[in-house]
Amino acid sequence: MSSTSRAPSVRFEHLTKIYSGRSDHPTVAVQDVTLSITAGSLTVLVGSSGSGKTTLLRSVNRMVTPTSGRVLIDDHDVSELDAVKLRRTIGYVMQESGLLPHKRVIDNIAIVPRLNGATKASARERALELMTVVGLDQRLATRFPAELSGGQQQRVGVARALAANPRLMLMDEPFGAVDPIVRSDLQRELRQLQDQLGITILFVTHDIAEALALGDQIVVLAERGRIAQQGTGAELIAQPADEFVADFLGLGAGRDLHLQDSDGTQLVMDADGRPIGRLSGHRR
Ligand SMILES: Nc1ncnc2c1ncn2[C@@H]1O[C@H](COP(=O)(O)OP(=O)(O)OP(=O)(O)O)[C@@H](O)[C@H]1O
Ligand SMILES: [Mg+2]
Repeated sequence: MSSTSRAPSVRFEHLTKIYSGRSDHPTVAVQDVTLSITAGSLTVLVGSSGSGKTTLLRSVNRMVTPTSGRVLIDDHDVSELDAVKLRRTIGYVMQESGLLPHKRVIDNIAIVPRLNGATKASARERALELMTVVGLDQRLATRFPAELSGGQQQRVGVARALAANPRLMLMDEPFGAVDPIVRSDLQRELRQLQDQLGITILFVTHDIAEALALGDQIVVLAERGRIAQQGTGAELIAQPADEFVADFLGLGAGRDLHLQDSDGTQLVMDADGRPIGRLSGHRR
C-alpha cells in the first residue's frame, strides 16, 4: 500500500460486529456482511443513519474489531497486519473533521508524514502542495482549525488523508457539514482527484444524490449492513432491486427518476423534467 504500489481491492467476508454496550443491551451493528470493493474504484456506501456504514469503514483500518468475519485488503487479512502501519498507510477522513485543535492547519496536514519520519521541512512542503490540491489558499496554513469555515476544515481533512500518498482512502461523510454549493465543488474536486490518482476510495454518505454524483459503484445498505443492492448509479435507477432501494432512490414517491444525456454528462431527472443531480462519469 505504499505510494508506488497499485490500488488495492477490499473484501468484507461474513463481517459481524456486535457492540457490547456499557449502558444497555448489545447492538448488532452489522450482521454477516460480504462485499467486494474493486481495486481503483470510488465505491459509495449509502444508507440511513445507524445502518452500519461507519462500522464497516472502521473495520478496514482496524479502528473497529469485528466480532466475527474478516476484512481483506488485496489478499491480506487486516487482523494479521500491523495496526499502526495500517492506519498510517490508509487515508481516513472522519465523520467529524477530527483535526487537532491546538495544531495549525499545516501541521495537521503534515502529521502522518512526520510520524513516518519525514523531516519537518519536507512534511510542511508536502502539506502546502496538498493545500493547493484540495483548493485551500496557502495563506490559511498558519491558522488553527477553529479559525476556518466548515468547508475549509473538511478540505484540510482530505489533504491530511492524502498526505501519506495512500492507495486506499476511507471517507466517512466528509462533506456533511457544508452547504450544497461548496459540497458540489468538493464532490467535483474529489472526482478529479480520483481520476488522477486512481486510488481505491470507500466513501460513506446518507445522501443518494451525492452517491450518484460520485460513485463508480454504489452499495445501498439496509438495516445491520444488509446489502440491498450493489451496482452503478445507472443500474440502480434503471433496475432497483426491491422496494427498499426504490424508496431510497425516491422512485416510490412519484419522482420517477430517469437519465438524460446533456453534452456527454448524464443528468438524473425527476418526473417533471427537473435535474436533481448528475451521474458520475464512468471510466470502466
Ligand atoms: N461504540 C459503539 N457502542 C455501541 N453501539 C454502537 C457503537 N458504535 C455504533 N453503535 C451502534 O451500531 C449501529 C451502527 O452504527 P454506525 O455508526 O456504524 O452507523 P452509521 O450508518 O455510520 O450511522 P450514521 O449515518 O448515523 O453515521 C447503530 O445502531 C449504533 O448505535
Ligand atoms: Mg456513521
